[in-house]
Amino acid sequence: MTADRSVYRAFQIGLGIFTLTALLGLANATQLFGALDRNTLLTHLHSGTLGWITMGVLGVAIWMFGGSGGALARNVGITGVTTAAYVLAFWSGNFVARAVFGAIELLVIYAWWWWVVGQARREGFGRIDTPKLSVTLGLTTLVIGSTIGVIVQVMFATSNVSDVTGQSIGAHAAAQVGGYLVLVAAGIAEWWLVGPGRPRSLAASVQVGALFVGGLLLAIGIYTNVAPLLGIATLFQVIGIVIILVRFGRRAAGASWTAPTGMRHIAASLLFLVIGLVLEILLVKEAVSAPAGAQGGPPGSAGLNHALDHAMFVALMTNALFGSILLLTANGPRRWPWADHVIFWGLNLGAASFIAVLYFVGSGEGAKPFTHPVSYTAPIMGLSALLGIVTLAMRLGAARRATQLVTATA
Ligand code: HEM
Ligand code: HEM
Repeated sequence: MTADRSVYRAFQIGLGIFTLTALLGLANATQLFGALDRNTLLTHLHSGTLGWITMGVLGVAIWMFGGSGGALARNVGITGVTTAAYVLAFWSGNFVARAVFGAIELLVIYAWWWWVVGQARREGFGRIDTPKLSVTLGLTTLVIGSTIGVIVQVMFATSNVSDVTGQSIGAHAAAQVGGYLVLVAAGIAEWWLVGPGRPRSLAASVQVGALFVGGLLLAIGIYTNVAPLLGIATLFQVIGIVIILVRFGRRAAGASWTAPTGMRHIAASLLFLVIGLVLEILLVKEAVSAPAGAQGGPPGSAGLNHALDHAMFVALMTNALFGSILLLTANGPRRWPWADHVIFWGLNLGAASFIAVLYFVGSGEGAKPFTHPVSYTAPIMGLSALLGIVTLAMRLGAARRATQLVTATA
């Protein structure tokens, strides 16, 4: 299996930035450098969601839509630089830098969205397959969520902070996590488990529509704190995910958990989509029952919040992207073959135990080094992620060189 140069580049840049996320995660888990300040936590967050996940999603989108050419590879490089600059702006704690680089990042995201919509229009929205429609609508929600993010940055930079800021941050997070990530993860899982180019059934269209509308209603519901709206939003999401399970859940269940291929990562990603949905419903329930005006959820909800975050960012999305990269490089030189099992089991058992600890014991924030079970579970996930980064970066490099060699000699 091969793809355009820009796809390899997007994955490589993503893996590079993910190194920072994992290292900061390890520092946070072990508390070896003390508690991380808010700027560093936001760097951990956005290096993961923009630097790793969104760079990876762009790679998948180019690959899925068959994009090619030097301009795309160059644009991926520009996106990498812009994203790294924005992540560093978060770390700097400078509100003006965050607003400026956030706005530039937003422009870049709009440009990619426009490219994807152009490809989808060329094929016809009525004809494109379910994975492509899922990714297109997922990126549409990313554009909306990121616009809200920049508005928040401008509020901070101009010292216009009020209740609306808190509500907007909630809406931003809900759109990105409950809308964007759910749609793209569903698209990637279907792409691999069902295959590309299948005619879209009515059930598939309802599935994508329900997830898209559900994500947007969730963001509006969080912003307005209207409980019935949140109920309808989660109902839409449940409908979307039940249709997924009926349509191709059995294919995921049938994937081999022992064969060292990308498929088991994709199957695991689907399993965590369901776990993520359950955690999201629990969080929404808590938010609804919180006293009016409580920011960031009721007291004690940090554990549940962080459990949902890592279910979506690591267990759902990192599995989906690691799986895609393993499938892309499957025919190339398989460096460090022993690493596949360690990465798969370490990432998944590490994430599962970390999520369980956050849910049942609560957040490890403020705990002394190695006094909270987070210090023992999160490093399994973090070290496996680091091993995955090194192994997959080597394999991507080798596979890319092999592809170039074939093209040059053809
Ligand atoms: C251009 C893109 C983006 C911009 C401008 C942006 C901006 C922001 C801002 C200003 C905050 C609040 C920071 C604070 O509390 O001081 C925030 C928080 C957050 N962002 Fe983003 N962000 C972007 C992309 C993303 C993406 C892609 C995701 C997820 C896939 C994401 C998920 C979150 C989450 C979960 C929070 C934390 C909300 C909370 O504290 O409860 N962001 N973002
Ligand atoms: C895409 C990847 C990731 C993203 C987007 C992400 C995001 C987040 C967010 C939003 C928080 C909450 C910060 C806050 O208090 O506001 C957090 C906390 C944390 N993260 Fe990550 N994370 C990622 C990967 C990792 C990895 C690989 C590790 C591995 C060690 C890790 C370890 C931690 C730990 C230990 C906490 C504190 C949890 C607690 O005790 O409550 N994260 N992360």
